[in-house]
Amino acid sequence: MQTIHDRLTLSQTLKGFRENDETVALVPTMGALHDGHMALVAEARRRANRVVVSIFVNPRQFGPNEDYESYPRRADSDSVKLVAAGVDLLWMPDLPEMYPEGFATNIRVSGLPDRLCGAARPGHFDGVATVVAKLFNQVRPDVAIFGEKDWQQLAIIRRMATDLDMPIDIVGFPTQREDDGLALSSRNAYLEPKDRAAALALPRALGNAAQALQKGADVALTLAAVAPMLTNAGFASVDYVELVDADTLAPLDRLDRPARLLAAARIGKARLIDNLAVNPISG
Ligand code: PAF
Repeated sequence: MQTIHDRLTLSQTLKGFRENDETVALVPTMGALHDGHMALVAEARRRANRVVVSIFVNPRQFGPNEDYESYPRRADSDSVKLVAAGVDLLWMPDLPEMYPEGFATNIRVSGLPDRLCGAARPGHFDGVATVVAKLFNQVRPDVAIFGEKDWQQLAIIRRMATDLDMPIDIVGFPTQREDDGLALSSRNAYLEPKDRAAALALPRALGNAAQALQKGADVALTLAAVAPMLTNAGFASVDYVELVDADTLAPLDRLDRPARLLAAARIGKARLIDNLAVNPISG
């Protein structure tokens, strides 16, 4: 695996791939790689001749009181995992390489970022869209793989790629979970053992609610029951629990189309998110 830190070497290396008619898959990450990321890498391997993984902890997507400074950085162990997974190229720009002095562009997708996680994290999705657009321009992949755990992020990136005519196949890959059901996340590392046990209430409450909705339960009543389940289990607060149209993220009060049940809640030092597909029973 070649590890590259500057754009010139990156473009020269990618040119070599292109000259051999090789397709390229990109897996953008912020590092601290877990099995969820590695599943994205395996999917990338299946979809293209060459796999590029980027690691860049992007300051523009962290709010002033968020965990940019303390976000886990594990370049050495990440690198070992990527070599073992057969990754061709690790793209690891530093801050000035990604945002040189004078950088002044912000990419904002309208509408989609305003609600759900965007309401609690103003500017977060502008930071995500801006860095992902830059990564797409730097790597020019044929396909890019993102985890479905960040469902709103995925919807925003799809919108951006469509609106800006980016010729990239955006692939969402199912959320990977611990054996007990907790969604894998780099931020799970922040959980104290008692919070880690209590965190299980999130996938459980969402799973029960999704089942009830699919059996025809009232949407408002079902959603309203989730937050107390989480706070009773030990969550400090619940940012949102919503049923939305799976593509547009418009809130739904009836299950009349493919939907997604999403929630974000805070426990200990972590803000956890999760989501599940909820589909109307046909026929
Ligand atoms: O999902 C993430 O890890 C980040 O938001 C991403 C897509 C790598 C952009 O920094």
